[in-house]
Amino acid sequence: MLAGVDPYPGGLGLTGGSPLTVQYSYWYPPIMDLSGISLDRNSGTSLHAQLVLALRAAMAEGGLRAGSRLPASRNLARSLGVNRGTVQKAYSALVAAGEARAAVGQGTFVAGTDGSAAGILPPPQTAEDPDWERLARWSARPGVISLAGGMPDARLFPVAPFRESLNAVLAKEGSGLLQYGPSRGHGRFLEVLAARLKERGLDRQAEELLVVSGSQQGLDLVARVFISPGDAVVVEDPTYSGALALFRMMGARLLPVPVDDHGMVVERLESILTRERPRLVYTIPNFHNPTGVTMSPSRRRRLLEICAANGVPVVEDDSDGELAFDDVPPPPLAAGAGNGGVIYLGTSSKLLFPGLRLGWVAADSQVIRALEAVKRVADLHTPPLLQAAMAHFMMTKACRDLVTTVRASYASRRDALLQSLEKEMPAGVTWSEPRGGLSLMVDLPAQISTADLLARAVEEGVVFAPGNLFAVRHSADHRLRLTYGGIREEEIREGMVRLGRAVRAELSGADQRRMTDKAISPPPLV
Ligand SMILES: Cc1ncc(COP(=O)(O)O)c(C=O)c1O
Repeated sequence: MLAGVDPYPGGLGLTGGSPLTVQYSYWYPPIMDLSGISLDRNSGTSLHAQLVLALRAAMAEGGLRAGSRLPASRNLARSLGVNRGTVQKAYSALVAAGEARAAVGQGTFVAGTDGSAAGILPPPQTAEDPDWERLARWSARPGVISLAGGMPDARLFPVAPFRESLNAVLAKEGSGLLQYGPSRGHGRFLEVLAARLKERGLDRQAEELLVVSGSQQGLDLVARVFISPGDAVVVEDPTYSGALALFRMMGARLLPVPVDDHGMVVERLESILTRERPRLVYTIPNFHNPTGVTMSPSRRRRLLEICAANGVPVVEDDSDGELAFDDVPPPPLAAGAGNGGVIYLGTSSKLLFPGLRLGWVAADSQVIRALEAVKRVADLHTPPLLQAAMAHFMMTKACRDLVTTVRASYASRRDALLQSLEKEMPAGVTWSEPRGGLSLMVDLPAQISTADLLARAVEEGVVFAPGNLFAVRHSADHRLRLTYGGIREEEIREGMVRLGRAVRAELSGADQRRMTDKAISPPPLV
């Protein structure tokens, strides 16, 4: 947390003492408690790879802290009911990845006691769990259809009208737009934003708004103000991978709450808040990334009630909120929360142009002041020229037309994807049905591992994002995310033909593998 900045001095009951002496009682789970780990012989992923992921999750969440000694391989093997060699193989993999170190005669320890970055950096991915870079490389191969990235379609961007806006503001405001500008944001852009948020039911004054370089920066500033290493943060599971990476990098202890067809399962949050004092609850209530679902009105009310009662600020990420297909965009959660309690993040990236890096935060004025102080240190301000041009463009007919076109195009692509899934996927495969946003989640039969499926899908010429990229505990090996914003309907249809082939091939391969495993697996050593 930023020293000396108390975002809610006395206000939400989060911090005791004066704004300069923030008191917070940390809670850590017992250091060596690995009793939650269970390995699945039928999952299709090798036991040692499952154990690597489980240990890594325990490290990322703080349960296994830097310097902790891992249980002796013999003991862990006995309690898990696996061969000792399986545990030794998992430990060796962690050592090879720099996440653990082996001391001769002493055992294996979680790395990072020397103050190195281990434990702060996000856990490296394994071959079973490919990272974004690899997905991007596969997606760029000629002939490959990629439903992996959540980018809007640049072919829809109207370049000429935006150039006119740039010229218009430069002609009017001149060199002032090329000078350093205010950290809070360009005055005209703040006015346009305030009016736009008001249309969606969020009435905020200028002092309650901050322009940021994309909502990702908004989230980063919030994390820097609110989180210290070891602090607990509640996140939906699954959730946006950029938020997971950020919170992990900040050393936060992640408390996952599942998501169903009605958004975050708020009842589960209630039980967490009886045991824990998280610093933040991070949610994506509208057109959630990756599932595409929207939180129900009753859950929204309950979420706000219980967070207010417990004094926990909610961070609402509304990055896809305006990308509604069937109706007007749902109101932000913050609209039901008065001025305090919700820190709202918005962006122009999904409906308009992500390359301009224009986002905004709406929150209590004290929070905004704290975030602005951090922004000043991070990058001074967001470019005034781009803010002024965007403010101008947002008032034009070209912008209104673009919004209509974008919503209609993505809605048709969503329809094409839903129809193709229905046509191409075998029984046992299910998926979410978003009413806006850019992605949906597919659930595969438990015997399919997305890591194996992805390798086969790449051979078939189609790429998706494996569910584990969005999962807190790498527990989504049978899920995958598909995005439909950046590709045409015919590509979506062909992509699903290829994915359907890969899923069917994996299904028959997994059946065969299971039979072989049964024949060779030793009985558990309990
Ligand atoms: C849920 C969510 N939040 C935040 C972001 C970051 O968006 P930006 O920084 O472009 O506003 C993204 C980008 O994909 C996202 O999906």
